[in-house]
Amino acid sequence: MVELKTPSVGVGQTALFVAWMRQLESDRPDALFRDPLAATMLTALAEDPVLADVAEVIQQTHTSARGFPAYFAVRTRFFDDAVLAATRGGIRQVVTLAAGVDGRTVRLDLPAGTRWFEVELPEMTAFKDALVERSGLPLTCERHGVAADLRGDWQSPLRAAGFDPEQPTAWLIEGLLMYLTQDAGDAILAGLTELSAPGSRLMLEHLKAAMLTEEGRPVRERVEEQGASWLSARDDLASWTGGHGWQTEVHAGDDPRIGHGRTVAPLPACWLATGTLTRAGAHSVNGR
Ligand SMILES: C[S@@+](CC[C@H](N)C(=O)[O-])C[C@H]1O[C@@H](n2cnc3c(N)ncnc32)[C@H](O)[C@@H]1O
Repeated sequence: MVELKTPSVGVGQTALFVAWMRQLESDRPDALFRDPLAATMLTALAEDPVLADVAEVIQQTHTSARGFPAYFAVRTRFFDDAVLAATRGGIRQVVTLAAGVDGRTVRLDLPAGTRWFEVELPEMTAFKDALVERSGLPLTCERHGVAADLRGDWQSPLRAAGFDPEQPTAWLIEGLLMYLTQDAGDAILAGLTELSAPGSRLMLEHLKAAMLTEEGRPVRERVEEQGASWLSARDDLASWTGGHGWQTEVHAGDDPRIGHGRTVAPLPACWLATGTLTRAGAHSVNGR
């Protein structure tokens, strides 16, 4: 059997938490998606003490933040729909920055020829590669795990893995930016824009700024119990991404228009955004 090395605590553990949330959603009769990779993860880690820690956070989340679990279901479905719209619109290259245990490469119905790059820290990449293999689930695209730290040079490993900057790309950043500094987030947006051919799409999530104030303290403390910290938040996604050439539509995470009838808790408050690259000349392959 393929060996699995559980990612260490900290922000890696948040990926296990979110995958567990997806499993809970998958079990509902009215599920907004079904994620079989999350079930594989739970079975594979059943005896692992790290899962007991995650279970405790799940329990607290259900008792103290009613409506918060619905946020993960809505967020997942929002980005599922955005990726499917991008691929149905002709994009055949998808890049997830900080993919964690995301199961989209085994569960989304993607057009033939779709190539999907999942950039993650080396430890999580190794875990995910092994998990996908152990699951035996057929991939619905050509999947490439790319080991890189998004605070450094992630573009070179991405290109070395076969990413083609001449093709339009759908970029997905879910559950990441709040764990990085504002400067690191700026560098990521600049970096992905450089690699984006005309027609590329951007899908991202960020935390509302109020979450770094007293208002967000109870939720922040729960995140810190998992060994992770929120380092940034912003309320200017449209102008921030617009400054890099993206025309972006932004929804609050609890916006009923994207909720599929679910009631999402007002805390923690997040933004969900999708955009298209519009500015001519934003594409600067090889620094041109
Ligand atoms: C909350 S999880 C989200 C995972 C996935 N996007 C999802 O929604 O299920 C955050 C992920 O960010 C990854 N991460 C955090 N800092 C990173 C960094 N500097 N470079 C690459 N990945 C990072 C962690 O390993 C973790 O898998």
